[in-house]
Amino acid sequence: MAKMAASLLESGEDAFRKVFKFYRRRNPPPDYSQVIDFSTGVPSDKIVLAKLDLAAVTDAEAAKVGLQPVRDWRAFGLQGYPGFIFISNPFLPGCQPSWVRQCLKTYPQKPNVCNLDMHMSPSETQDIWGKSVHSLSVRSSAKREPKTLLERLRWVTLGYHYNWDTKTYSANHYTPFPADLHSLSLQITAACGFPGFNAEAGILNYYRSDSSLGIHVDESELDHSRPLLSLSFGQSAIFLLGGVCRQDAPTAMFMHSGDMMVMSGQSRLLYHAVPRILPAPQGHMASVMEGCSLSLQDSSGVEAVSKEDWAVCCRYIQSSRVNVTVRQVLGPGQSFPETPSSHQRTDAGQTAGYHDRATDGESEKRKRSSSCDSDDAQT
Ligand code: SIN
Repeated sequence: MAKMAASLLESGEDAFRKVFKFYRRRNPPPDYSQVIDFSTGVPSDKIVLAKLDLAAVTDAEAAKVGLQPVRDWRAFGLQGYPGFIFISNPFLPGCQPSWVRQCLKTYPQKPNVCNLDMHMSPSETQDIWGKSVHSLSVRSSAKREPKTLLERLRWVTLGYHYNWDTKTYSANHYTPFPADLHSLSLQITAACGFPGFNAEAGILNYYRSDSSLGIHVDESELDHSRPLLSLSFGQSAIFLLGGVCRQDAPTAMFMHSGDMMVMSGQSRLLYHAVPRILPAPQGHMASVMEGCSLSLQDSSGVEAVSKEDWAVCCRYIQSSRVNVTVRQVLGPGQSFPETPSSHQRTDAGQTAGYHDRATDGESEKRKRSSSCDSDDAQT
């Protein structure tokens, strides 16, 4: 162990970063044979079935937010990661489009905050969808044209708006959290054994095919006994789930459209990252899109998506991925301290947002977590 730490120290590389770089590599492309795929049902000695609270959510409550009855969900845990729950696409057929449309058309709207606000005026970022749809729908793939605002979107924050510089939330930077996403989060977390989850902050990440997300821990929330919920739409990704130290080698898994993760208990504060976006498996996106016609016939409580809106969403998600993380920031009766300083997200070299578009891991050297024991290799 000491020998391994010493050699990592010499190479300036920790175990997580090594795996991150492996999956981020373009040439030659990495071997994916060790990546867990919950969608195929292929058993792995690491996968266990997760126990859900079947009585916590009625079928009607689930359908209202576009979900299958909880008894039909395929929910898994991972050996060695207590509190981690992976739910393989529990959406009703035809219901993902409504959530994709919310992520692309509704949530980027004011008063929510996005990366474009950092260097554009409020009037310029007022209607990202409206200003993008025409170009997106008439664009020919042959021509190189300037990117639309939608294509330049990297992140949106909801509720308590995450401050990327101070890595904190604060009472005075808050706008109402979207009611529909609050309900969806409430039902999912209740089924996972966390009744009364109060969705207070959200971060949406918009990934293009060459995007990645650096190694980090989400610890800015003041109450870590509440879970972190993650929802994915569009193209697939490799998600790496590590340990409490960067020396713990992470487990790699695929996240496909509709998949969800709940990080709770001992898994709430683990290092994680997304080194790579991948094309969705064959037929996967077609089934998401096909279902849209069902949604138009209104098989659930989610709002139907118009043909025009869905055409734009389809174009976008054919090459992109959207991830939504939902957080409860404050515990019952808790309030923000006078000077927020101690509750921070431990990011590995993130600047504006935490997308690492061209990660070579160098930026990760600049900063390291203080949450590991002293026998970790220092970078
Ligand atoms: C993801 O994109 O799957 C992860 C997002 C995050 O960790 O914030």
